[in-house]
Amino acid sequence: MSEVRIGSGVRHELWEHVRRLFPGAARAGWVIDPRMFAAWEAADGGLPDDPEAVDVTRVVEALPGHGEALKTREVLALVQDALIELRRDEPLIAMGGGATTDVAGFAAATLRRGMRWIAMPTTVVGMVDAAIGGKTGINHPRGKNLLGAFHEPALVLIDVDFLKTLDARDVTAGTAEVYKVGRLGDAALRERLADGCPPVDDAEAWIELVKRAVAVKRTLVEGDLLDLGQRRLLNYGHTVGHALETLLGNERMRHGEAIAIGMQVAIQLAASRDLVDDDAVAGQKRDLEALELPTRIPDDVSTDAVLEGVGLDKKRQADAHHTMVLPTGAAGATVVTDVSETELRSALDATR
Ligand SMILES: NC(=O)c1ccc[n+]([C@@H]2O[C@H](COP(=O)([O-])OP(=O)(O)OC[C@H]3O[C@@H](n4cnc5c(N)ncnc54)[C@H](O)[C@@H]3O)[C@@H](O)[C@H]2O)c1
Ligand SMILES: [Zn+2]
Repeated sequence: MSEVRIGSGVRHELWEHVRRLFPGAARAGWVIDPRMFAAWEAADGGLPDDPEAVDVTRVVEALPGHGEALKTREVLALVQDALIELRRDEPLIAMGGGATTDVAGFAAATLRRGMRWIAMPTTVVGMVDAAIGGKTGINHPRGKNLLGAFHEPALVLIDVDFLKTLDARDVTAGTAEVYKVGRLGDAALRERLADGCPPVDDAEAWIELVKRAVAVKRTLVEGDLLDLGQRRLLNYGHTVGHALETLLGNERMRHGEAIAIGMQVAIQLAASRDLVDDDAVAGQKRDLEALELPTRIPDDVSTDAVLEGVGLDKKRQADAHHTMVLPTGAAGATVVTDVSETELRSALDATR
C-alpha cells in the first residue's frame, strides 16, 4: 500500500521524498489543479521550491479547466504528451483535489506501462478518499469514472494547510466522507464531528480527523484493492447519493451533500429492517445537521426520479433488487443485495 504522510507544512518535504523514493531522478512532472494553484499563490501559502538537481515540468497553465473538468480524455492526453519523456524511475506528482489525483494518477498508470507517482491532495475528499486506495480514472460521455485503472501512488503527502484556501462549501461537503468512514468503523471519529466541523486553520484537529479517516479507509481497502468485498462498504450513502448528484448536477449539489442525504435514506431503510434503532436514525440526522449537511431529499426531486436514478424503476422487471450498504448497530455496516423498490420507496418517502 502507499506510504502516507499527514501533517501541517509537510508539503515542504516533497523533494526530500522524491530524492528518497526516486534516487536517480533527473526530471519530474508536476500536475497541479489551476484553480487550487491560483488560490494558493494569492494566499501566499508557499510551495516547495523546485530543486536544482531535478528538471521539473509543471503542468498547470496548459490545463483547460479545474476540478471535474480535468477528468477528460483531452486532459489525459495533454498530461501524457507533456510527460512522455519521463523515465520510469522519475516521478509524476499530482497536486489538487480528487479530480486532479484521479486524472494524473491515471496518466501515471498509462505512461511507460505504469510510472510510480506521488499524490498531494488539497481537498477534504482528496485527503480522506480519492488519493487513498489506488483508484484512478476519468469520465466518459456515458458516465463518471468509466475509464481508469487501479494504480496506487508510492506516497500520499497530505498537508492540511491546503484546506485554508478551499471553498467553505467544499470543506463542508467533504466532511460527509469523513463522517461516513466514522460510521463504518470509528465511533470516536464520529463523536469528534458531533459538534460540527473544525475551522480550517485548526491544523491539529484536521490532522487528527484526516489520520483517523485515512486509517479506516486503508483498513477496508487492505486485502480488497479490486473492490470485490469489504471495500464496497465505502459505498455507504452512495446508491441514492449518486442518483441525486446526477439529477441535480454539481453546482446544485456537491458529491458530499448528496452522500449525506444518501446515508440518511440508507439508515432509514436499515431501521425498517431492525438493523439499527430509531435513535440511530435521529442521531445520524443530528450529526449531519451539526456538520451543516443536508439530510432531506429536495422537494422538487420526486421519489420516482430517484428510483429511476438507482435503476429500480418500473421499466425493470417487477422483482428487481438492488444492492445497498446499510449501517448496523452503533458502528459498522453490511452489504445487502435484496433491496426492493417498495422498501427503498418508503425509505425515500421517510427522508423528506
Ligand atoms: N479515486 C477515488 O477513489 C475517488 C474517491 C472519491 C472521489 N473521487 C473523485 O474525486 C473528485 C472529487 O474530488 P474533490 O471533491 O476533491 O473535487 P475537485 O478535485 O473537483 O476540486 C473541487 C474544487 O476545488 C478546487 N480546489 C482544489 N483544492 C483547492 C484548494 N486547496 N484551494 C482552493 N481551491 C481548491 C478545484 O479547482 C475545484 O474547483 C470526483 O471526480 C470523484 O470522482 C475519487
Ligand atoms: Zn464518495
